[in-house]
Amino acid sequence: MKPVKAIIIGAGGRGGTYASYALAYPEEMEVVGVAEPREDFLKLFLKGHNIEKKYIFKTWEDVFKLKKFADAVIICTKDDMHFAPSVAALKKGYHILLEKPMAPKAAECKIMTALSKKHKKIFGLCHVLRYTNFYKTVKKIVDSGEIGEIMTIEHIEPVQHWHMDHSFVRGNWRNTKFAAPMILAKSCHDLDIIRWIMGKKCTKVASFGSLSYYRKENAPKGSTLRCTDGCAVEKECPHSAIKLYMDMKKDYWPVSMISVDLSKEGRLKALKEGPYGRCVYRCDNNVVDHQVVSMEFEGNATASFTLSGFCAGLTERRMRIMGTKGELIGDSRHINVANFNGDKKITYDTTATGWNAGSGHGGGDFGLMKDFINAVRHNNPKLLSSSIEASLDSHLIGFAAEKSRKESKTVIL
Ligand SMILES: NC(=O)c1ccc[n+]([C@@H]2O[C@H](COP(=O)([O-])OP(=O)(O)OC[C@H]3O[C@@H](n4cnc5c(N)ncnc54)[C@H](O)[C@@H]3O)[C@@H](O)[C@H]2O)c1
Repeated sequence: MKPVKAIIIGAGGRGGTYASYALAYPEEMEVVGVAEPREDFLKLFLKGHNIEKKYIFKTWEDVFKLKKFADAVIICTKDDMHFAPSVAALKKGYHILLEKPMAPKAAECKIMTALSKKHKKIFGLCHVLRYTNFYKTVKKIVDSGEIGEIMTIEHIEPVQHWHMDHSFVRGNWRNTKFAAPMILAKSCHDLDIIRWIMGKKCTKVASFGSLSYYRKENAPKGSTLRCTDGCAVEKECPHSAIKLYMDMKKDYWPVSMISVDLSKEGRLKALKEGPYGRCVYRCDNNVVDHQVVSMEFEGNATASFTLSGFCAGLTERRMRIMGTKGELIGDSRHINVANFNGDKKITYDTTATGWNAGSGHGGGDFGLMKDFINAVRHNNPKLLSSSIEASLDSHLIGFAAEKSRKESKTVIL
C-alpha cells in the first residue's frame, strides 16, 4: 500500500499540524509539495519533510502551473485565500482538504460546492470536532434513539480571553476586511456540529451580538498603543501581551505564532513591531466579542448557540440536547444521559485515550486526517463525515446569523 501523496498549501500553524500526520504515519501519507511565502516558516517546515526542490513553491498559484503531481492538496491559507486555490485544485483534478471556514462569502461557498460536484473529487472541510471521541459519541447516542427525537439543543462556545485577544482582537481573524465574521471563523465548527447532530435542515435564524468591549473608549487611563511602550497599567492588565507571550512556555500556541524566532529577544521584537504587541483596546478589530444565534429546524426543533470571548477557562464547549424521551449533557469530555422513565442514567467518559489521543482538538486533527486519507485512497467521499455539501449547509446558517445580527431581522433559509 503506497502512501497518499499530498501538497501543503500554506505551511503555517494548521499546515504544519496536518503535515505532521505524514511524520507520524509515513505509510499512510507523504508530503510531496509545499507552497509557503514566508521563508523562515518554509525552512522550518522543510526540516521535517523531504520534498524535491521542483515541488517547493513560494505561492499556491505555482503549484497549479505544473501537471498534477500528487493525489491531494491540503489548503491551509487564511480565510480569504481559500476560494481561489480550491477552484484551481479542482480544475487540476486534485482531491482537497480545506481549512474552515470555506470562504468569507456565501456566494463563493456555493460555487465551490457546485464545482466539487462537477469534478467529482473528494472535498472535505476541516471540521475537526466531528472526529473527536466526544462528538462521535454524542452523535452515536442521538442516532440510537436513546433520547428520542431532538426538540432542543443548547450549545455554548466559551472562548478564553487570551485566545480572544490573540486571534480576534490583535490577530488574523480580527477584521472582516480579510477574515470571515467571527460566527464563521470561530464557530462554523459549532454550527456544523449542531446541524449534524440535529440531522435536519435549518429553516430560520435570528442572531444578536456586537463588538462591545475591545474598543478605544474602554482603554484604561495610562495605557499606551503597545504593551511594551511603558503602559502604566500593564502589570495588572489581564490582556497584557508581555504576560501572554513572554511568560508562557515559549513553544506553546499561540506564542509560536508570533515569530519563528522564539528566543526572548525574538519575541520582544515581535511584540514591538508586529500586531501581537498592540493594546487590545487600540486595535483595528471589528469582529464581535459575543454573539447568540437562535435556530429553528425542519419539524420545529430549536437550537440556541452562544459564543463569548469573555471566558476564564473554567470549561470547554458545553452541549445539552433535549429529546422526546430523555436528555443528554456534555462538557467536551463526559456525557451524561438520562431518560424520562428514570430507569436509565449513564455517564460516558470520552476523554481521548485512543491512537489519536495526543493530537490537537481532542484527537480531532488526526482523526480527520485518517478519514481524509482513507477517503482519498478509496476515492470514496462517504468515508469523510465533513463533506463540502454538509459544510455548505452549516456555513449558510452562519451567513444568515451575520445578516440577522446586522439587519435585526429573522432570516428564512
Ligand atoms: N480547523 C480548525 O480548528 C482551525 C484552527 C485554526 C485555524 N483554522 C483555519 O486555518 C487557516 C490557516 O490558519 P493558521 O492558523 O494556520 O494561519 P497561519 O497564518 O499560521 O498559516 C497560513 C499560512 O499561509 C501562508 N500563505 C500566505 N499567502 C500564501 C500563498 N500565496 N500561497 C501559499 N501560502 C500562503 C502564510 O504565509 C501562512 O504561513 C485559516 O483559514 C483558519 O481559519 C482552522
